[in-house]
Amino acid sequence: MNILVTGGAGYIGTHTCVALLEAGYSVIVADNLSNSNIQALDKIKEIAQKELIFYQVDVTDEKSVDKIFTNHEIDGVIHFAGLKAVGESVEKPLAYYHNNIVSTMILVRACQNYKVKRFVFSSSATVYGDNNVPFKENMSLLPTTNPYGETKAMSERILTDTVKATPGFSVALLRYFNPVGAHESGLIGEAPNGIPNNLMPYVTQVAKGKLEKLKVFGNDYRTIDGTGVRDYIHVLDLAEGHVAALNNLIEGTHIYNLGTGRGTSVLELVKAFEEANGIEVPYEIVERRTGDIASCYADASKAKRELGWTAKRDIIAMCRDAWRFEKNYKEFVETV
Ligand code: NAD
Ligand code: UFG
Repeated sequence: MNILVTGGAGYIGTHTCVALLEAGYSVIVADNLSNSNIQALDKIKEIAQKELIFYQVDVTDEKSVDKIFTNHEIDGVIHFAGLKAVGESVEKPLAYYHNNIVSTMILVRACQNYKVKRFVFSSSATVYGDNNVPFKENMSLLPTTNPYGETKAMSERILTDTVKATPGFSVALLRYFNPVGAHESGLIGEAPNGIPNNLMPYVTQVAKGKLEKLKVFGNDYRTIDGTGVRDYIHVLDLAEGHVAALNNLIEGTHIYNLGTGRGTSVLELVKAFEEANGIEVPYEIVERRTGDIASCYADASKAKRELGWTAKRDIIAMCRDAWRFEKNYKEFVETV
């Protein structure tokens, strides 16, 4: 089966391409490399020991997308391509609405035109807003506090409405919790540009000495130690969740939380990182970050029940693998 993976050169996309190739799928990547590097594609091939096809295209460009569907018999689409920086989305709302919504519409239209029946979409736990934890798929969604979150909620809506009007169309809306870690090879992982917004890449850069100390955003939340609690999920587990979703896709819209079901506080993550890697991570407590919620973790039982998928890797593995990639990545950058 030929799977079109948009955003396949990115962080979650690369790991999913490896998982798809290992599961026997053929992979066609469409990525404009706006937040990734072409070398990531060689790393995928090196890990999986298989080939893939790459198009450097913007998936908001209908003609380019159409060409891919004309050139290949596509059996399914996994749509990762998108802009994802929450803070930037507040400053550049139009760029986010355009990129994230138009891409979804163009890809769904291509699926209709070329009779492609399977579509897997990268959504986010952010659509739950400040609901009560654990988050369940059937909860009413609460407004998110930023345009990025709105693009996810809107794309979910567009896909759900299209399914109702398209007999035979199957859509999985995968709500990711907090993906961290990297492939055990250390060849692919998360390499954000500039100062990281997210906790784990910030921690690895502090460990490396690139940043002086971690700023912990608030210790007065109603959580185990006052710091924010999140459901960190190893990116390899997340990648395997996509293969499970694709394998089990049936007609209709199906929503799945991809998380571990366990919450970890910022300070617990720092401690786990220190324990896993034997490196101290200096930190200071600072003000809360605007828009953050106290706790966010999944009820992950639906994916287990319906897809037979659960996250297997623990927080120590996430910290160890994130650090291995950070070290390797440094070497890689220095040799280029
Ligand atoms: P990423 O930035 O590493 O990967 C996204 C890829 O899409 C990049 O390679 C980028 O070059 C490409 N891209 C962006 N716009 C494009 C366009 N118009 N045409 C073609 N390619 C384009 O991000 P990621 O962390 O791998 O996230 C993948 C998806 O998962 C995104 O949709 C993101 O919103 C979603 N998501 C991520 C997280 C997270 O914490 N990483 C959490 C929830 C949801
Ligand atoms: N945090 C710090 N210091 C930092 C960075 C983060 O203390 O330098 C704290 C945050 O306050 C929060 C926790 O670490 O309590 C996790 O923060 P992240 O920025 O890593 O992740 P978020 O939960 O805020 O958001 C992430 C993605 C969103 C996605 C969401 C749910 O950035 O795109 O997970 O999947 F929507």
